Formats: sequence, C-alpha cells, structure tokens
Amino acid sequence: MLTFSNGSDCMNLPNLNQARKRTSKEVLIKTNDYIVKENLKELGKNRKYYIKTYGCQMNVHDSENIKAILEDMSFEETNNLEDADLILLNTCAIRENAHNKVFGFLGRVKHLKESKPHIISGICGCMAQEENVVNQIKDKYKWVDIVFGTHNIINLPNILATSMQKKEQEIEVYSIEGDVLENLPVKRDSKYKAWVNIMFGCDKFCTYCIVPYTRGKQRSRKPEFIINEVKELVDNGYMEVTLLGQNVNAYGKDLNMDYKMGDLLRDVAKTGIKRIRFMTSHPWDFDDDMINAIKDCDNIMPYVHLPLQSGSDRILKLMGRRYTKEKYIELYNKLKANIKNVSITTDIIVGFPGETEDDFKQTLQVVNECKYDSAFTFIFSKREGTPASKMEDNVSLEEKNKRLYELNELVNKYANEANQRYLNKKTKVLIEGIGEKGNLFGYTDTMKLVNVDGSEDNIGKIVDVLITDVKTWSLDGKIV
Ligand code: 5AD
Ligand code: SF4
Repeated sequence: MLTFSNGSDCMNLPNLNQARKRTSKEVLIKTNDYIVKENLKELGKNRKYYIKTYGCQMNVHDSENIKAILEDMSFEETNNLEDADLILLNTCAIRENAHNKVFGFLGRVKHLKESKPHIISGICGCMAQEENVVNQIKDKYKWVDIVFGTHNIINLPNILATSMQKKEQEIEVYSIEGDVLENLPVKRDSKYKAWVNIMFGCDKFCTYCIVPYTRGKQRSRKPEFIINEVKELVDNGYMEVTLLGQNVNAYGKDLNMDYKMGDLLRDVAKTGIKRIRFMTSHPWDFDDDMINAIKDCDNIMPYVHLPLQSGSDRILKLMGRRYTKEKYIELYNKLKANIKNVSITTDIIVGFPGETEDDFKQTLQVVNECKYDSAFTFIFSKREGTPASKMEDNVSLEEKNKRLYELNELVNKYANEANQRYLNKKTKVLIEGIGEKGNLFGYTDTMKLVNVDGSEDNIGKIVDVLITDVKTWSLDGKIV
C-alpha cells in the first residue's frame, strides 16, 4: 500500500480551528522534498489532464506547479474538457459565488464521468481547505476521486496513485501553518511574463477573509531563491515578473534578517528583468523605502493595487484593517506625489455587517477623492469560521445590490476618465499574444489592457503604441 509523506494512509481532513493557530514554530525551507517515485513516472502515460483554475494569481501559479507535477508523471495537458482523463478544479474560497461556480462545474464533470467512468476527478485549492466543503464532497460527491489542500500539492503523485489503485476517494488536506517549498516544478503559461511567489500565507486576519485559514501563516521565501528564480527567467527571455503574495509589503518581516520589500524590489530590479510588478499590497505595511524603490528603479512598474475595502473608519475597525481613512488617503497621496504617472487600483467591499448608509457614503467619498484607475468591487460574503460571519448582517440584499450598483457607476466614471488621458498619446506595451478578436493585446506599464493593431512578430516585445480609442476597461491602439 502507498503511504503519504507523513507516514499515514488515513484521510487527512481540514480543520478550521487548527488552521487559525499561529505558533512560533520555525518555518522549514524544503529544497529537496519533491520527488516522483520511479513507479509513478509513467502513471499518466496516454492520459490527458484538464485543469480549471478559479480565483487569484496565487491559484494560477499553483496550477502551473500542478501541471508540471502531472507532466512529471507523463500526463499530457488538454484544453478540451471532453478529451480529459483527469479533471482537476483548482478552487477559490474567497466568496460564496466562487463556491457556486465550482459546484456548478462539478455537475458537468459528473455528467462526463457517467459516459466515461475511467475519468479521474479532483478538487484542490482553497475550497479544499474548508471543512464544510470537504464534508459535502465526502458525503454527497463520493464520485470525486481526489481532494488535496494547498499544503498538499507536493504529494499529488502519491494521492493520485493511491486513489487509482484503491479505486476510492482519497482526501489529503493539512490544516497547518505551512513550510516553504523550493523545488516544485513549474510549467509556465506564458513565455514572456511569469508569476514569482515571494511569500505564502497571511497573518493579517481581516475579519471577513478566509485566506489566513486556507493558506497558512506568513512565510517569506529567502531573497536568494527569489533572485535566482528571476535571473533564470531573464536568461530564458522573460520580460516581466509579478512578485506574488497575499500581502507583499510585509515581505521579510518573518525572516530573521534586516531585509524588507524595498530591498527585495531593488535586488530584483538589478537582475535586469524589463518589468517588475507586485501584488497585493496592504496599506498598513507600505513603507517609504518601498516607495523610493519604485521611484528609483525604472523597471519597477508604476502600478499599485491598494485595497481600500471601506471608506468608513467604523467599518475598517470592524474589518480589522488597522488603518483609518485618513491614513489611507495620506499613503495614496504620497504614492501619487512620489511615483511619476502611477496608476492605483483598489478593492472595495459593500454591505459589510452593520454598514449604514452613512458608512457607504464615506466609501463613495474616498472614491471621489482617489479617483481610482479601476476597482474590484464586491458584496460582503459570509465565510464560515471567520469573525465577520458571526456579526449581525442587517443590510438587505436589495440594499447591498443598490450600493454595489452606485459604487460601480462611480468607479466606472473614474476608470473612463483615467483611460481618456491616454488618447492620442504614445505608450509602451508588452505584447502578450493574440486576443479573441484576432488582434494583438498587451498591457501598459500602468497595467492597462490595450488591443493593438500590428504584426505577430511583436509578440513578446515591448513596443510603442499610439492610443487611438479609449473604452472604460481597455484601450485601442496601433504600433508606431
Ligand atoms: N466578502 C467579499 N469580498 C471579500 N474579499 C475578501 N474576502 C471577502 C468576503 N468575505 C475581497 C477583498 C479582497 C479581495 C481579494 O476580495 O476586497 O481584497
Ligand atoms: Fe485576506 Fe486581509 Fe490577508 Fe488580504 S490582508 S489575504 S484581505 S486577511
């Protein structure tokens, strides 16, 4: 019988109470732990896999790791669900609608499995870390073959093999603080831009958010591993890296060294990579050194995603965000004053428990003051196990929808105004590929999507584009 890396062969189910714990236990940096046993290297021969990824860039990057692991077992990727022998859903737990989408898609998978029983199906990602989800899969979705958590990706070969061998549902989800894994393989989706994890987990525990429970404690990667990864990307012709973390500004705070995000940004800039982005920032940890690094290095892009969440101090306090509206605006103005041509976007939640009309008006006021380049807006979603799920939610759905609509109208107005500033101007665009309408597409340094007229030879290059038309969510232009 195959055993798991922890030596057991029993199921490991998620536990939110354990996931909440933070101890001073040392984070292990594991550089040699990923291995595919010889007898599993051909398990996927003549079998195709299909991965559907939900949620944030962290998940997108995890899927790139999962793809490489499956290919180490001789599986081959397909983008056609109907052709797949293995179907994996890499899920997101941040809001209820992400849940619903996954369960909706599972219906399609079940249907396919009825006509092709050999199909192996699996669920991973943040939803796999949730007790209620896994209980539901265990009880009502017995036909789902494997479930593995965000800390268990490394053990995918064994989990898969055990399920195939025993023909039973195999669940392995650890609710632990987590380690740093350095030798996971990666199959990148792009040849030009790459996601680079700089840290894992989150210790902020904003009261509405499930992430600190699904992703473990904050663990920064050591600078040398990150810099070597970026150097290798440069050698392989990559033009852009996005440094990823739930809360990148806090990078390094958990390392026993005097090295923070500003230092990392400068060192990554020295690798010569053409474009550096980072996400996501928390206003709380945004220090002056980081602002100076962005200002000083031409290859750090003038783009900051700075989640506001709410413009009401009362709600910010209930959310556990640890800043006031005044402090947020002060930082916003500092960024605008110091970083030339900076584009700032945000996340906003409406309908947090107890949000009054006046609280909401204060959010609108901040939007009017900051005039964001763009914003992701959400209705509060109750996540089981978080403190906010126990707060009295006394705002009606109708009212929440009304507030979201009003907020979106304002956000769109400013997004359009921000884009108008590009009309008839020349701007640099990294051409990433061919879009749905057959034209080229890429992004400006300020992260604006541009549909570009031009030849395919420009894919993978940074080119000058003249903006000829402006929409709320994108720009049109031609190469000059
Ligand atoms: N309900 C609604 N939005 C949420 N977000 C995180 N948790 C929730 C929730 N429970 C939003 C925040 C965060 C973004 C990634 O998702 O705005 O910044
Ligand atoms: Fe969630 Fe807050 Fe951590 Fe962001 S900083 S992942 S919103 S807990």
